[in-house]
Amino acid sequence: MQLSQFGEHYCGDSGILDLMEDLGSALRENPAMLMLGGGNPARIAEAERLFRSTLQEVLADDARSHQLLGRYQGPKGDLAVREALAAELRLQYGWPVGAEHVAVSNGGQSAFGLLANLLAGESASGRRCLHLPLVPEYLGYADIGRSPGFFTAARPLIDLLPERQFKYRLDRSAPIPESAAALCLSRPTNPSGNVLELDDLQWLDTAARQRGIPLVIDAAYGLPFPGLQYPEGSQPYWSDNVIMLLSLSKVGLPGARSGFVVAAPPVIEAFSRANSVLNLASGNLGPALALPLLDSGQLFRLSREVLQPWYRARRDHAVAALRAALGDLPWLLHRPEGAFFLWLWFPQLPLHCEALYQRLRAAGLLVIPGASSFMGLEGGWPHATQCIRLSCAVDDSTLERAAAVLARVLRDLSR
Ligand SMILES: Cc1ncc(COP(=O)(O)O)c(C=O)c1O
Repeated sequence: MQLSQFGEHYCGDSGILDLMEDLGSALRENPAMLMLGGGNPARIAEAERLFRSTLQEVLADDARSHQLLGRYQGPKGDLAVREALAAELRLQYGWPVGAEHVAVSNGGQSAFGLLANLLAGESASGRRCLHLPLVPEYLGYADIGRSPGFFTAARPLIDLLPERQFKYRLDRSAPIPESAAALCLSRPTNPSGNVLELDDLQWLDTAARQRGIPLVIDAAYGLPFPGLQYPEGSQPYWSDNVIMLLSLSKVGLPGARSGFVVAAPPVIEAFSRANSVLNLASGNLGPALALPLLDSGQLFRLSREVLQPWYRARRDHAVAALRAALGDLPWLLHRPEGAFFLWLWFPQLPLHCEALYQRLRAAGLLVIPGASSFMGLEGGWPHATQCIRLSCAVDDSTLERAAAVLARVLRDLSR
C-alpha cells in the first residue's frame, strides 16, 4: 500500500503506539501482570449504577431513545446538552457562557487533535507550532501534529519539597516562540499529577492574549468533572481566550468517546465546521447520558462526592505503599495534586527509564516510562529519562504488590 505523507505520518513508527502495543501484548502473555500503565478510569460501583440507570431511562423513552440512536445531531451537537452544561458552568463558576460557547466532541483526544491541527502547522504566516509551557505532558499529544516541529516546549523549574516530594513549576522566564499558535497544557497534568496554580494560568493567558493566540486547557481529569483536583479550594480556569477541553472518559465513560469544547463562539464555530467535515456529527451517547445528569446536578455531585474522594483514597494508599516499600532508596514523588497517576523520579537511575520499564515488565509490573512525555523539548535533559508514571486507578492490593515489585527491581539495580 502506497501511503500519502499523511498516511506515513499516522501509520509510521510511533513510540507511543509501540508502547501501547507492548502493554497489550504483555497482558496477553501474562494475565497476572500488575497493570499500572493504562489511562483507564477505575470501576466505581456507584458511578456505574448511575450511568446504567440513566441509560435505561433514556432507552425506555421513545423520543429520547430515537434522539440517541436514530439521529445525527447538528455540527455543534445537541442544543439541550450544550445549554445544560453552560448553565451549570454559569451557576458553579460564574463563567459568562451560553450554548454558543459549547460544542460536543468525540472525546478529548479527537477534539485536541482537531484543534491542534486547525491552529498549528503550515499557515499564511509560515509554519506555526503548539507551545507546551511546561513538560512533561500527556504522551497522547506527541504524534498528533501533521508537520515536523509541531511542538515546542519549555522545561519546568523543579521545587524540592519535604518528604521526598517535588513539584514542577512554570518557568516564566522561558521564551515563548514567535511561531507559537497556541499555548497548551493539561490540568491536572497527565502524567505528573501537577495542578498549575491559578496565577500561573492567568499569566499564561495574558502572555497568550498579548500574542493573539489562545490558551488550550485540557481538563480531562479536572474540574468540573471528574474533578480530580485535590488542593484545597482548587478551581478551574476559563476566559474568553481559553479553549477548554472536557471529557466524559475519566468520569467512567471512556467507551462513550464523548466530551465538550468550551471556548469563545468563533472557536466553537471553527471546531464544529471541521468536526462536521471529518466526523459528520459527534456521537450521541455521551450527550444522552450527560443531559439528565447535568439537569439534575448529578454529574457535578458524582464528581465531588464520589469520584474525587475515591481517587484521593487510592492516591493516599499508593503513596503510603510506596513509602513503605521504597524506604530510603533514591526516589522522589511529584506532589500528587490531581488526576490518578503517581509520577516518580529516580535521580540516580543507572539506566534509561525505558530499560527500567522492560525490567519491571519482566518482573510482572507495567508502568509508563516517562521519556515520551517530554515532546518538543530540545537539548538532552537527564531528568527526562529518569521518571515513570504509575496509575492509581486500581485496587489497594494491586498497589501494594506493585510497590513491592518496584522496590525489588530498584534494589537489584543499586547492587
Ligand atoms: C490529558 C488527557 N487528555 C485527553 C485524553 C483523551 O481523553 P478522551 O478519552 O476524552 O479522548 C486523555 C486520556 O488519557 C488524557 O490523559
